[in-house]
Amino acid sequence: MAKMLVIYYSQSGNTKKMAEAVAEGIKQQAVEADLKEVKAVKPEELLEYQGIIVGSPTYYGTMAYQLKELFDASVSFHGKLDGRVGAAFSSSANIAGGNETTILDILNAMLIHGMIIQGDPQGDHYGAVAIGAPDSRSKNNCMRMGARIAKLVKKLFP
Ligand SMILES: Cc1cc2nc3c(=O)[nH]c(=O)nc-3n(C[C@H](O)[C@H](O)[C@H](O)COP(=O)(O)O)c2cc1C
Repeated sequence: MAKMLVIYYSQSGNTKKMAEAVAEGIKQQAVEADLKEVKAVKPEELLEYQGIIVGSPTYYGTMAYQLKELFDASVSFHGKLDGRVGAAFSSSANIAGGNETTILDILNAMLIHGMIIQGDPQGDHYGAVAIGAPDSRSKNNCMRMGARIAKLVKKLFP
């Protein structure tokens, strides 16, 4: 049975709220979803999941170092996430404050692991974004992303 993990770092709670909405979207597809703050994730745990969604606040246009640290530690099992599904989301303070570059940095690391990435032709194309705390538009896009990625995981790992 496919299992998914939503990992986030959040200092003031905005990315955490997004992570909760992403996990809700996954569960709507009847896929098991664990929701964990990055400090609670041991790198090898990633191998237990068929789908991994990562959320970060935008820090100078990229992910928080706590998440980068996790990706850097994952080099010890490089190649073993090949074919798993990945996605990313981010909260920034400003419109055009770098939330899309943050998402793309996370997706870059996932692609280097060999993970499968799905864009979205509607709404938030690269991954869900919020300006500050997620409003209803952002929450809907977080849920939509969780549900879409869960559907893909079910297809690939029936
Ligand atoms: C060190 C640091 C760097 C930041 N860099 C940016 C930035 O480049 N662009 C931006 O729009 N917001 C930036 N912010 C604001 C956060 O991305 C924003 O407040 C976000 O909603 C925080 O998410 P959180 O509540 O999950 O911690 C930065 C905040 C901090 C603390």
